[in-house]
Amino acid sequence: MQVITLEEVNSTNLYAKENLASFADKTVIRALRQSAGRGRFSRSWIDLGKENLFISFVLKPSDSFDPVYSNLTQYLSVVLCKLLEKYGAACEIKWPNDVLVNGKKIAGILAETVMSGNIFKGLVLGIGVNLNADPLSLSKITGREAAALNIELNMEISAEHFLHKLTSDFFAGYDEFLNKGFSFIKSDYISRASFIDTEVCVQGINDKKCGIAKGVNDFGELVLDAADGQCVLNIGDIL
Ligand code: BTN
Repeated sequence: MQVITLEEVNSTNLYAKENLASFADKTVIRALRQSAGRGRFSRSWIDLGKENLFISFVLKPSDSFDPVYSNLTQYLSVVLCKLLEKYGAACEIKWPNDVLVNGKKIAGILAETVMSGNIFKGLVLGIGVNLNADPLSLSKITGREAAALNIELNMEISAEHFLHKLTSDFFAGYDEFLNKGFSFIKSDYISRASFIDTEVCVQGINDKKCGIAKGVNDFGELVLDAADGQCVLNIGDIL
C-alpha cells in the first residue's frame, strides 16, 4: 500500500478516477483539504477544516467487474465502525453504508467504477470522516445531522493516526473479503445495523419505498416488508 498526500484537491475520488492509470493497485490518495467533495446521489461532502479525513482507495482487483465489489462500501463501513469503537465511540450502520455515532452521520462512503468503454479498469472507494470540527460548522451541514469524533469524544483526534489505522485495518481483511463476499462481514454488519426491525423509507434513484426493514441478506441487500409485499433492495439510501 502506498499513500499519496495532496495539499488540496477538488475531490480525491475525481482525482483518483482521472489519474487511475498512473496509480498501482492499493494506492491511497489523501487530501489535506478538499474543495468539492462528492457524495452519493449527487450530494456534496463538506470539508470541515484541517485534521479531517478525505481519502480514496484505488483498487484494481481484477480485469473484470465482480458483483462483490458492490459490497466494498459495506466492508469499509464495518472496518470504520470497528475503529471508531476502539476510540470509544458507539457506532451504527444505516443501510447500505452510512456510519453513525450517537445517531448522527460521521462518515460518508462513495464507490465509483472506472471503465474505458466497456473494459473494467478499477474502482475508486472514497471515504470522508469528520474527525475534528467546531460545533458551528457542523451545525451548518444540511440534510442529515452530522457528528464529528472530537465533539463526541471531547478530545482532539490525530488525522494521521486515524488514517494509518483505517488503511491498515482495511487492507488486513481486504483479500479475504473479496474471496468470501458479504458473508465475511455479515454478522459484524448486522450487529451494528440498528435499522433492522424498524420502519424505514428508502430513497432509490427515482422512487421512495417504505416498510419494515426485516434484515440484510447474504449479498448485502436490504429485505423490506412493504405494504405491497416483501422486496429486496440493492440500491438506495435509508432516509
Ligand atoms: C455520501 O455520504 O454521500 C458519500 C460521501 C463521500 C465523501 C468522500 S470524501 C473523500 C472522497 N472524495 C470525494 O469527493 N468523496 C469521497
